[in-house]
Amino acid sequence: MARVAVLGAGLMGSAAVERLASQGFEVVVWNRTRSKAEEAAGRAGARVAGSVEEAVSNAEAAIAFLADDEALMSVAARIGRADGLVFIDSSTVTPEAASRVAEYLEGRGACYVEAPVLGGPNAVREGRLVVIEAGRGHCKRLARPYIEALAERVVDAGEDPRVAQALKLAFNQLLISSLAVLSEAMAMAQAHGAPLEALEEVYRGTVFEALASKYLKRLASPEWPTSFRIELAAKDLDYARRAAWSRGLAAPVTSAAAEAFKLAAHSGLAGRDYSRIYWFIARGGV
Ligand SMILES: NC(=O)c1ccc[n+]([C@@H]2O[C@H](COP(=O)([O-])OP(=O)(O)OC[C@H]3O[C@@H](n4cnc5c(N)ncnc54)[C@H](OP(=O)(O)O)[C@@H]3O)[C@@H](O)[C@H]2O)c1
Repeated sequence: MARVAVLGAGLMGSAAVERLASQGFEVVVWNRTRSKAEEAAGRAGARVAGSVEEAVSNAEAAIAFLADDEALMSVAARIGRADGLVFIDSSTVTPEAASRVAEYLEGRGACYVEAPVLGGPNAVREGRLVVIEAGRGHCKRLARPYIEALAERVVDAGEDPRVAQALKLAFNQLLISSLAVLSEAMAMAQAHGAPLEALEEVYRGTVFEALASKYLKRLASPEWPTSFRIELAAKDLDYARRAAWSRGLAAPVTSAAAEAFKLAAHSGLAGRDYSRIYWFIARGGV
């Protein structure tokens, strides 16, 4: 039975622990806050490691679901030697961080695969992720069983880890910014007395139908369980604009959306589902 270490037991990492264990992998999980690793491991019949080093020693592969650049870099820095370890990074990070971590871990003997994902914790549990994969050919081949356990589709982004993260950020840049604009459109129409159903009807049959049918009710609903935290949506837009700035592009629209999500996170909604951006916008951004 292949042994895999899951690094990070947040919403995505804990779902990955469950999925990989259910697919027959021997799973060991490490998390900065140990109690969350224990919870995830308990549900899945996995083992908890007390340190990153312990998690990856004797594992054939490690898969990281960590919050951001800082989290990924600080976890990677705790890996001393990693000869033969297949390291799969499924966190959403900047292209620069991906490249630095790839170089660092390859220098320690790991086979590095950048593998950011589209889809939330439920998609992880059901093996329905879309994975955008970059790395050396033989590393991608070694990573295949772990990625296939989580994904229904794999997009090959070549060898450069920066390209995989640029593609991931390009997806979230469009989705998350769209939710901010959709929230503004809903709030404006409703403030003029338009019912939500009429707005949905207006979007029907147009290019906006899929977005509206998937998100109008979620945005308007008074409660929604958190599957993707507002704070991380703000982080993704911030990373997308920084990736644009690093190539001389201004990205003013992405910047405006990033500020809206950042303000929403600072207004006490940081840990709430990213669809709560509508609350923030509908009550006037305060
Ligand atoms: N949720 C989604 O729908 C979704 C979809 C696609 C991609 N992603 C990406 O996947 C990654 C994980 O997302 P998530 O939803 O699972 O987030 P989450 O629930 O907030 O979990 C974040 C994880 O990162 C760890 N972490 C944060 N800062 C750290 C640090 N400085 N050092 C070590 N560990 C640190 C947390 O540990 P603690 O428990 O100790 O805080 C936790 O395990 C993110 O990059 C996110 O953008 C998420």
